[in-house]
Amino acid sequence: MTVTDADVLEARRDVFRRVLKHIREGTSDLADAPMENAVSVYTDPERHARELQVLFRETPQLVCLSSELKSPGQFRTFDETGVPILVTRAADGGVKAFLNICPHRGARLVRETEGQARRFTCWFHGWTYANDGKLIAAPEAERFCGAMDSREHLVSLACEERHGLVFVMPTPGLALDLDAHLVDFGPVLDALRLADTEWVKSGILPVAANWKYALDTYGEGYHFAALHKNTLAPYFRNDITVYDRFGRHHRVSFAQKDWADLVDKPEAEWGIRPEGAGIHYLFPNTILFAGAVSPGKSYLTVFRHYPGATPGETRTHKAIYAFGGVKSPEHRAEVEAAFDATANVVRTEDYVTAAEGWRNLTFLPAGATVVYGRQEIALQFQHRAIAEAIGLPLPKVAAP
Ligand code: FES
Ligand SMILES: [Fe+2]
Repeated sequence: MTVTDADVLEARRDVFRRVLKHIREGTSDLADAPMENAVSVYTDPERHARELQVLFRETPQLVCLSSELKSPGQFRTFDETGVPILVTRAADGGVKAFLNICPHRGARLVRETEGQARRFTCWFHGWTYANDGKLIAAPEAERFCGAMDSREHLVSLACEERHGLVFVMPTPGLALDLDAHLVDFGPVLDALRLADTEWVKSGILPVAANWKYALDTYGEGYHFAALHKNTLAPYFRNDITVYDRFGRHHRVSFAQKDWADLVDKPEAEWGIRPEGAGIHYLFPNTILFAGAVSPGKSYLTVFRHYPGATPGETRTHKAIYAFGGVKSPEHRAEVEAAFDATANVVRTEDYVTAAEGWRNLTFLPAGATVVYGRQEIALQFQHRAIAEAIGLPLPKVAAP
């Protein structure tokens, strides 16, 4: 679908109207009621094992942006879910995904993290596969006496790109149904124009906390004034959220403090730009943040949260992209600096709290709960969506 500047601006204006209405009226989007959630949701190894299986093996995974796999022959490897995955842009322009496993005796076929290649040669015995997965050469092939026939193709994984994102199903044989997965989130992703981005920088932010505890920190602005008093609070309000739900996904928009000056101004003077804005939760583990930790700029930052083997380990894969591409060396330096600024806030503020908080939960007595206020609406929804997806209802808790 082609999205015009006018479409994007109108989508942004629509959110902006709602934010300004809340500023004018002293209101916010809120959940109907507070919600108690069992601490065990964050600490129970059985629930964790179920999440690993259902959410990270049987749910579409965002492996990269289309802009990171642009030209035929480009490839990337992706290991964050634990499954060794190889994605390629084949000669026909389509994306393909395979287990990054050599069918001869299981060696890792592609050892680079990214690159450009029409064929891949296994470093163990030299079997060579084309980038569409087909075996094209093997030393001493005749000595296999036909036993190679069933190994003539890498094991394929379902793979498809939509809205500038490349999705893979990590389990062989499972279909990828993106219509069912994305439901009505597609137009929201289209408005971000993700295909027209350029990767600038990536890094890993580890945190000794449950992956959902880490994810929670991206869903509410309620903590800005206390935790981020010197970093975000000078620019962003604590108390106003515009919240939209799309299937299992959502978008959260916060208010800048200086927007108070705009409430009585005509729309033409709002200064809305076509770059995206807002926190977009792509189920189950991804945050697409369009904006910056200081106002006036917008970059795309993608945070993907990957659980470790136990409930208390998480790796957040963070990457930043320039909307519309990098324009100059100065622009690149600016985007890199924005990456560092966000990483610094997350590492020194959100993830310090997350590690301490998650560890503290493990000492609470059985049956203990945490509570999400009405303003923590995104967290309420997120936990219900995850529980529903894994087929393990949230534990019953005593009424508050
Ligand atoms: S395991 Fe790859 S060629 Fe032998
Ligand atoms: Fe935060």
